[in-house]
Amino acid sequence: MVISVPQPVFVDVDTGVDDAMALVYLFGSPDLELVGIASTAGNVPVQQVCQNNLGLLELCRIEEVPVSKGAEQPVSSPLRTAEDTHGPQGLGYATLPRTNRELTPYDAAQAWIKAAHAHPGELIAVATGPLTNLALAMREEPALPTLMRRLVIMGGAFEYRGNTTPVAEWNISVDPEAAQEVFSSWPAAWGSDRPRYLPIVLGLNLTEHIAMTPALLGRLAAEADSPTLPMSERDERGTRSSATNPLIRVLEDAMRFYFEFHFDQNEGYLAHLHDPLAAAVALDPGIVATRPATVDVELTGTLTRGMTIADWPGRWGREPNALIGIDVDPEAFFDRFIERVGGFARTLA
Ligand code: BDR
Ligand code: CA
Repeated sequence: MVISVPQPVFVDVDTGVDDAMALVYLFGSPDLELVGIASTAGNVPVQQVCQNNLGLLELCRIEEVPVSKGAEQPVSSPLRTAEDTHGPQGLGYATLPRTNRELTPYDAAQAWIKAAHAHPGELIAVATGPLTNLALAMREEPALPTLMRRLVIMGGAFEYRGNTTPVAEWNISVDPEAAQEVFSSWPAAWGSDRPRYLPIVLGLNLTEHIAMTPALLGRLAAEADSPTLPMSERDERGTRSSATNPLIRVLEDAMRFYFEFHFDQNEGYLAHLHDPLAAAVALDPGIVATRPATVDVELTGTLTRGMTIADWPGRWGREPNALIGIDVDPEAFFDRFIERVGGFARTLA
């Protein structure tokens, strides 16, 4: 008889509509143990990110997943937030249940270190916000990369425009120094006694292929046995979900705001699920094609601060520090997403 041991997974998020979708994807995935959630300031201030993470656990009736608060500011620049993209509290029009759940007594950087030490060589980590807390954790525990099995980062844009400045992606742009520290410390952390692996980095060039649409959201609701009215750009703004399922209702209310934002950016009535792709790749790296390269972050450019540069031809003469996502099958991703999240939502009816 084969007994499968659940994989320990740690996630660092700035929840955020698509971070919330990534969390519910993890909640609905089999064979994993979510060992911690680090809250990072980004889409909304860190106190709100903590509330969103605790509220989602309450909504989804998930017990015993520790949530830790991260730094209130990026490592060396003032915080910017994105309520225009994610709503005043980060979850669009959705409201989460009240909860008396508490944060851990230790902070998010400590949470990274504790999780890695508790599962040496086994921890699968996903970072879908600015890299502030990971950088702080690596300052304190430089061997952190050697303690994990895998790290997936949603961040950057490779041979692709930015979504925050013409060249910079949001997560990197909010805390470029943190991102630069993480990428530059990576190969340096390796000793000779552990297998080497590189972080998988998913930039906008890849994640913008993952476009949620009203039709896909309708499929998700149907999978949860909670059919709803199809959404459209002609609906009155802020129309609330008619779903009976509590999770589908929250996801639809969150997604409607995200759809409206993308629509106003002339991208259509759809929304990019950047962070759920990172969660899915963390559990199954085979769903994306990657290419190794050395990645660095521009810190001083007056027009290009926060830009991620991949040295594909190796002109810097530095060893690769990342596996950059270059191809994905969105249909296969959505089939899996709908099956897992829809199936999980059914259990909450
Ligand atoms: C990233 O920025 C955030 O707004 C999203 O949550 C995602 O992590 C995409 O650039
Ligand atoms: Ca995010």
